[in-house]
Amino acid sequence: MRVAMIGTGYVGLVSGTCFSEFGVEVVCMDKDADKIERLKKGEIPIFEPGLDELVKSNVEGGRLSFTTDLAVAVKGADAVFIAVGTPSRRGDGHADLSYVYAVVKEIAVAMDHYTVVVTKSTVPVGTGREVQRIIKAARPDAEFDVVSNPEFMREGSAINDFMRPDRVVIGAESDRARELMRKLYRVLYIIETPILFTNLETSELIKYAANAFLATKITFINEVADLCEKVGADVHDVAKGIGLDGRIGKKFLHPGPGYGGSCFPKDTLALTKTAQEHKSPLRIVETVAEINDLRKVRMAAKIIAACGGTVRGKTIAVLGLTFKPNTDDMRESPSLDIVPALRTAGATVRVYDPEGMPEAEKLLPGAVFCKDAYEAMTGADAVAILTEWNQFRSLDLKRMKGLLKSPVMIDMRNIYVPADMAAAGFTYTCIGRPNTRASG
Ligand code: UGA
Repeated sequence: MRVAMIGTGYVGLVSGTCFSEFGVEVVCMDKDADKIERLKKGEIPIFEPGLDELVKSNVEGGRLSFTTDLAVAVKGADAVFIAVGTPSRRGDGHADLSYVYAVVKEIAVAMDHYTVVVTKSTVPVGTGREVQRIIKAARPDAEFDVVSNPEFMREGSAINDFMRPDRVVIGAESDRARELMRKLYRVLYIIETPILFTNLETSELIKYAANAFLATKITFINEVADLCEKVGADVHDVAKGIGLDGRIGKKFLHPGPGYGGSCFPKDTLALTKTAQEHKSPLRIVETVAEINDLRKVRMAAKIIAACGGTVRGKTIAVLGLTFKPNTDDMRESPSLDIVPALRTAGATVRVYDPEGMPEAEKLLPGAVFCKDAYEAMTGADAVAILTEWNQFRSLDLKRMKGLLKSPVMIDMRNIYVPADMAAAGFTYTCIGRPNTRASG
């Protein structure tokens, strides 16, 4: 079994590597020559726990290789996966499919026997059908099927998500294509992972509906957290109390500064555009996206309020810049709204992130970049935690008190216990739980 993976971004590189771990021969292709050169040397362009060892062992095992030549990758491949980017199109929020369609044209030319062309990138409903049309027009002689196989992995736990998924969704419309996909996922089949076969459109929509639902769940608990603050309730207990109901489920009910990343913001927007176009608007999802955008900006106001109503002339330490821990990804991160808003309000902002600094330096001009959390807090009037990296969960509170001008913490991920913070002498502001003042 041989697979070509076109595009070595997050989804492409992790999926390709994991397929090779399943024992399949995988050729990963990207037109970025520098990236491919680095991959050949074993340098991984993204931070994803465990990925470097997995790439190394599969390259050594002869199952995984890299090329910039699409025809080389596609030649002899039984399945060609398309995992190129589908960013939001500037201006209208639709998914930009120009990269997808460009590679489809090249794949059509390079196919040399029956090939299953699989969309792995998140693509709007109707894309698979268009891919079919493009290939048919370019190669009326070719034997092929188009399949939709969306990916549900999360950054930071991508390998585990790929190896032990809750389900695999496959939109395939011929027995031959279904059989090939079943063979490809044989390892998961053996461990009884549910594999859902659908038509192309259903599979494409499942991906968007899943992300939109998760974004809705987060936004729901974020709004409930705001209400908790007003009425003196504890959002964690509310989340537990509702999450124990199996119909609701306890995951993705953790409040925070708003969701970010390369998927939820882009996919909710693209889904609402598709829905509007078909005159079947998804008003809940439209509202979710709007609330989340506003929330990120509102979080800066929360920090300012915790600093006594103004940060003019003050210094704020910000810990955590990436949109979530265990990634170096800064896309749509709340920090991109919060840090500039604090600076506009007159603060000096000292920042630190374990993996996101190189990217953050490009995106947050004017912030002071520090080498660790304690350096960021030195001389600051308050510290705000924006991302729940493990190393921020057990900070040395005594040392912090000595470094900060005033012991004020704004914990946007609720990683500390309010009573403990009060006992440690901190004025502590969190999300959806009562704030505490120093009692020690
Ligand atoms: C998300 C989905 O979870 C994956 O299933 C999907 O495959 C992926 O998008 C994609 O479409 O490629 P990801 O963006 O990597 O994965 O990250 P998540 O773990 O879902 O977190 C997204 C955002 O929601 C983060 O900013 C996170 O802090 C926030 N979040 C998550 C919360 O604020 N509360 C929660 O309870 C969970």
